[in-house]
Amino acid sequence: MKKLCVLLLLAMPIVLEFCSSTKKAANKVAVKEPVKLTYVSNVQSLMIANCSPCHFPPKGNKKPLDNYAAATHNIDSILFRIQKNPGEKGFMPFKHTKLPDSTIMVFMQWKKDGLLEK
Ligand code: HEC
Repeated sequence: MKKLCVLLLLAMPIVLEFCSSTKKAANKVAVKEPVKLTYVSNVQSLMIANCSPCHFPPKGNKKPLDNYAAATHNIDSILFRIQKNPGEKGFMPFKHTKLPDSTIMVFMQWKKDGLLEK
């Protein structure tokens, strides 16, 4: 019994040190990588909101832009057109007001980030 007590006493600092060091590790703030934009999280909803129904078959009969493959394949044309001003040839969204800069930035950043799907 005495032996066990001594053993426990000896072990105490080790146990305490272990506890405090794990706490320290948990408190460390992880350095976060900037989150990359993706089609599913950032772009799809903007396309639905601004490019439908025209580019969303079967309702729309313009070039389909209703999925990831079509959006990535046409990204340069999309970027080119949404940066034009209303009245300019090729401006999109057709017969609507220009997209806010923050929305245009999402398309640009999505391309920069590598056109990820999700
Ligand atoms: C009200 C209907 C309408 C909306 C909304 C619309 N478009 Fe269009 N879009 C058209 C029409 C009509 C054309 C064909 C005329 C032209 O090329 O300018 C076209 C053509 C395009 C093309 C060229 C297709 C090709 O054949 O190469 C792209 C790219 C495009 N639109 C992107 C967009 C994007 C991106 C949005 C949303 C931000 C959008 N459009 C919203 C009607 C629309």
